[in-house]
Amino acid sequence: MTALIELREISKKYGSFQALSNINLSVRAGEVTCVLGDNGAGKSTLIKILAGLHNASSGQILLEGEEHQFNSPRDALDAGIATVYQDLAVVGQMSVWRNFFLGQELTGAFGVLKKDEMRQITEQQLREMGIELRDVEVPVASLSGGQRQVVAIARAIYFGARVLILDEPTAALGVKQSGMVLRFIAAARDRGIGVIFITHNPHHAYLVGDHFILLNLGKQILDVPRAGVTLEELTVQMSGGGELDSLSHELQR
Ligand SMILES: Nc1ncnc2c1ncn2[C@@H]1O[C@H](COP(=O)(O)OP(=O)(O)OP(=O)(O)O)[C@@H](O)[C@H]1O
Ligand SMILES: [Mg+2]
Repeated sequence: MTALIELREISKKYGSFQALSNINLSVRAGEVTCVLGDNGAGKSTLIKILAGLHNASSGQILLEGEEHQFNSPRDALDAGIATVYQDLAVVGQMSVWRNFFLGQELTGAFGVLKKDEMRQITEQQLREMGIELRDVEVPVASLSGGQRQVVAIARAIYFGARVLILDEPTAALGVKQSGMVLRFIAAARDRGIGVIFITHNPHHAYLVGDHFILLNLGKQILDVPRAGVTLEELTVQMSGGGELDSLSHELQR
């Protein structure tokens, strides 16, 4: 199966600082590719390249096997790549339905907003994905962090994303809300979307991941399918294995 999107030997320099070195990654339809790594590993940099915000310094991006260059976030969106950033590009005081259609508003003659239709579609889409909201008129700021992530995922699916990139969607969430977001990641996958799930949390990654990539200071130190790694191994790799051992000695009382 041809990958929806493939990165080959992607490197990125910020000035003289090497943020990424020779990263390879494939995203397939109906699979979750997890990108793990500690702070500063280069995860967000990688996403920005995929989302068309940054150009790579070298390497190739292939879309369904064809080399492609993204020159803007619009290019990436047009190619069906939707990105949900950690801070979420939502406008807190705006209603849920306005956010759902933000930048893609339905308009009639003379550019008049089709408010009722947008409300209705938002309600219906959220309901279909099993999201129960009291009212789509409430401001997004009144939703929980998990609900916000889930609304953003539903929105990407509705607007036809084929690749969905999620930057640490569970980072600020408790167990229950993380569970809700992970369920939606699985739902997106089951609809045939290729998901890139960025996380610090090997447990969350292992619950939904088909493939795992681990970055450390811009280098890819692990690249394995699910069958090639256990949760224990992933956790050890993620926590820097030996480093944690020596820390535990140092902190022993
Ligand atoms: N615009 C930039 N200019 C210069 N250096 C940058 C820029 N963006 C990121 N960096 C550096 O590149 C490295 C990787 O940063 P990046 O944000 O990709 O890491 P990350 O894995 O997303 O980390 P976190 O888990 O903290 O979000 C860091 O050392 C960071 O300081
Ligand atoms: Mg980041």
